[in-house]
Parts: sequence; structure tokens; C-alpha cells
Amino acid sequence: MNAVNAVNAAPFTLGVLVSGSGTNLQAVIDAVAAERLRAKIGVVISNVATAKALDRARAAGIPTAVIEHKAHPTRQAFDAAVVEILRAHHVSCVVLAGFMRIVTSVLLEAFPHRVVNIHPSLLPAFPGVHAQADAIAYGVRISGCTVHLVDSGMDTGPILAQAAVPVLDDDDDASLRDRILVKEHELLPTVLQWIADGRVEVVVPESGTEQGARPRVRIAPRQ
Ligand code: GRF
Repeated sequence: MNAVNAVNAAPFTLGVLVSGSGTNLQAVIDAVAAERLRAKIGVVISNVATAKALDRARAAGIPTAVIEHKAHPTRQAFDAAVVEILRAHHVSCVVLAGFMRIVTSVLLEAFPHRVVNIHPSLLPAFPGVHAQADAIAYGVRISGCTVHLVDSGMDTGPILAQAAVPVLDDDDDASLRDRILVKEHELLPTVLQWIADGRVEVVVPESGTEQGARPRVRIAPRQ
């Protein structure tokens, strides 16, 4: 049984967007089942009909939806279709878990400061889709993963949490990816529980303050 949010007595409901294998989705499913994450997964949406992540959702009895991007003329129209389904499932927080699409203001404005992404590097290093290969190519000794709020940029939103992973001399993309994934699977459910508990505060700099000042996140101490 899911715990309920003490403020409004509604379950904290996640909508998870996926495109691929869904190991992060599985970590969230497992954390919910183990009650390490007191939330409900309301719906899993994929832009890829064959995504293994959809099988994981179905196996867990979670509603799924496929939204083909080719069926929508613009990114905004695609996102509007996504928002409609998220709202139909009473989602309050959206998780991009290996979702290989750039999202637009249509999604971000529907869920302000409530769209979360997981990325396999220590941002702001190595944004984009080749993060592990880029880390190896650069020769960094430490990489890792980042959970952040999504903004209109590519992997640029306020950072919620990070975990470090050493890069070993004989690492290749696959071995580094697999070691980072282990950390991703711990970090993502942990951060989602912070959000569920209302511990995440987004501090937006007042206009007229230091140029380039970014919104940042404060995590309140556990009650
Ligand atoms: C993960 O490395 C995640 O950080 C990135 O895409 C990958 C998704 O993996 N955004 P999975 O589909 O969760 O297995």
C-alpha cells in the first residue's frame, strides 16, 4: 500500500517517461514495492512502442501509453499529448528515466519544477547522449550521475543530487555505463522521496540580481 501525502491525503503520483531498457524505471518500481519510496507510479509513457521499459511497467501492473512522435507535427504537440495523459492519471511529478526526447515549455509549464531527469555524468560535465563515452574520451578520473530538475536547456536544470563513480583505466563505455547505473538506481528513488516529502525547495533568484544567477535547490533536513 502506498503512503499518502499528509497535506492533501492524495498519493504522491509519478508519471515516468521512458524510451529504452527502463532499468531506472525498474529501480523506481522496486523502491515503491519495498516502500523505500512512498509513491504511486500512475502511468509510464514511451515514445518507443518496443521499449523494454513498457514490459517492465506492464509486469508491475502499471498503466502504460505509447505516444509516437511521428504522429505529432511538432515537439509541442507531442508534449501536449503527454501532458493530457499525465493529467488523466493525476500525476504530480514527472520523471524522465531514459527518455530520449527534448521536452518543451508545454510539459515544463504544466509541471513547474516537477520534471526530474537522471543523467549519467556529473553535470555540468558531459551533457548530451554520449556522456559516458565523452567522460572516457576526456580522461576524467571521476564521473557519476546527476538527478536534476529539467529546464528548457539540455541537461542544464537545477541539480538535486549527484553520486560519484571512479573511471578505471580499463573502462569502456559499457563498463562505465553499468557502474554508473548502479548509482543511478540508488539515487533516483532517494531523490523522488525527498520530493514526495516536500523537502525540495527551488530558490529562483530575484530579477536584477547577479547576471546569470541560476535557480538552485535546497533540500530541507529530514523531519
Ligand atoms: C540512463 O543512463 C540515464 O541516466 C539516461 O539514460 C539511461 C537510461 O537507462 N538518461 P534505463 O533506460 O533507465 O536503463
